[in-house]
Amino acid sequence: MSIAIRVANVDDSEGIAQVCAAAFSELEERQRIRVPIADIDIARRMVSSKFTEPDIYRVVAESSGIVVGFAFLDLREDIGQIGPIGVSPATQSKGAGKELVAAALRHADKQKVPTITLGTGAGNHLNLALYSQMGFACLALMAAFTGDKANYRPTDRIIRSMAIDDVDQCVQLSISEHGYSKGAEIRQSISQGSGRVVELADQITGYTTGINFFGHSVGRANDDLTALIATAESYGKPGFLVPASNNELMRWCLGNGLRISYQAILMVRGELPKAVNSYLPHI
Ligand SMILES: CC(C)(COP(=O)(O)OP(=O)(O)OC[C@H]1O[C@@H](n2cnc3c(N)ncnc32)[C@H](O)[C@@H]1OP(=O)(O)O)[C@@H](O)C(=O)NCCC(=O)NCCS
Repeated sequence: MSIAIRVANVDDSEGIAQVCAAAFSELEERQRIRVPIADIDIARRMVSSKFTEPDIYRVVAESSGIVVGFAFLDLREDIGQIGPIGVSPATQSKGAGKELVAAALRHADKQKVPTITLGTGAGNHLNLALYSQMGFACLALMAAFTGDKANYRPTDRIIRSMAIDDVDQCVQLSISEHGYSKGAEIRQSISQGSGRVVELADQITGYTTGINFFGHSVGRANDDLTALIATAESYGKPGFLVPASNNELMRWCLGNGLRISYQAILMVRGELPKAVNSYLPHI
């Protein structure tokens, strides 16, 4: 089977969504987890959002004129992020995934992006082998937490929706605590209605773009994160990600009624981002 890799266009959207739903449905069955983009409607919405952003690079793998694989490379922030990426189950393990990642990395190199990250399931041999071969190193083990609601109510902090006037402070927080800006994701979370901030003594000390698999959060301290987690409406499936190296936060989640539903690894290629403690990454 010959596979061609090319830049995707909007007419590929339905083909990408179909491959995405099929690849992640098969992964769900194999690993007994829940992945939102295994659902075709969620996959369609995800793909459509990727085509509205000019700074997202999109590639597809094609065989006999049919889309059999796709990869997205998000270059909206100082650090690039690959994902999601998927190959139709019948085409997996035939080299398409590797070529898609290679195409995304060639583009990142041309744009001189110093660091690329990605998140992938920790129990998946193929993914770990593939990304290691392509130059990615493991940065952190992450636990996805879910459950009804943390049994805790913050008393000292105020949590409220993020407003456009908060963007500068949140960007400053992401730079000071994290080492780089997450401005595009912060702004997008306001338009999606998922952005929230934590205030302590009239200062923004933490924010989230969503306490779920696709949102990230930054705090000056773990107490800022626990306030955001405890007041979230729900965590979705497979849940929000906590770096397992943050033992204080891991124990807080476990002690407040939340359960681990999935393990993932955060991988990085290039310059290492600043080590951060009070941070919830996303995939
Ligand atoms: C992950 C995915 C995109 C990879 O695409 P793919 O086309 O199947 O992967 P490739 O065939 O290009 O590459 C797999 C590599 O891993 C290697 N590999 C697989 N299992 C391995 C193992 N147990 N140990 C060592 N290497 C292994 C293969 O040999 C191959 O390397 P090679 O070409 O040097 O031989 C695809 O499998 C997929 O869609 N999976 C389901 C969705 C998913 O997990 N997406 C990624 C989320 S981050």
